[in-house]
Amino acid sequence: MDNFKLVTLEELKKHNKPDDLWIAIEGKVYNVTKFRNEHPGGEETLDEVGGLNATVQFNEVGHSQEAKQMLKKYYVGHLVSGEESAAQTAISYNDLNKMA
Ligand code: HEM
Repeated sequence: MDNFKLVTLEELKKHNKPDDLWIAIEGKVYNVTKFRNEHPGGEETLDEVGGLNATVQFNEVGHSQEAKQMLKKYYVGHLVSGEESAAQTAISYNDLNKMA
């Protein structure tokens, strides 16, 4: 967890191809590019949610504890919600205003 990273929705969305596939589950972003062809639920299932928040889909399946443990291996960083991104933008604008 040393390389803690914040991932915006905008960045997540870019990783939506089979050879560059990220998904978000419960606020955490995972790079499943290498896991894709090992997924017991199929490659296409992951492709469909590439670049998206797949929390609902992941939980609907009722994945096992084992599956949940596997997630750690693919962790990239935390997903920053739209509100937080907006807040960060607002902060930078405030800083700019202070400087002006
Ligand atoms: C990194 C993310 C994921 C991991 C590590 C993972 C892992 C697994 C594992 C180990 C299984 C075997 C059953 C079990 O142990 O629960 C499984 C089954 C399955 N997964 Fe995933 N999964 C991931 C994401 C997803 C997502 C996002 C979806 C849906 C969009 C999905 C859909 C399914 C389905 C439908 C099965 C059932 C396959 C069957 O029983 O024939 N998985 N997954």
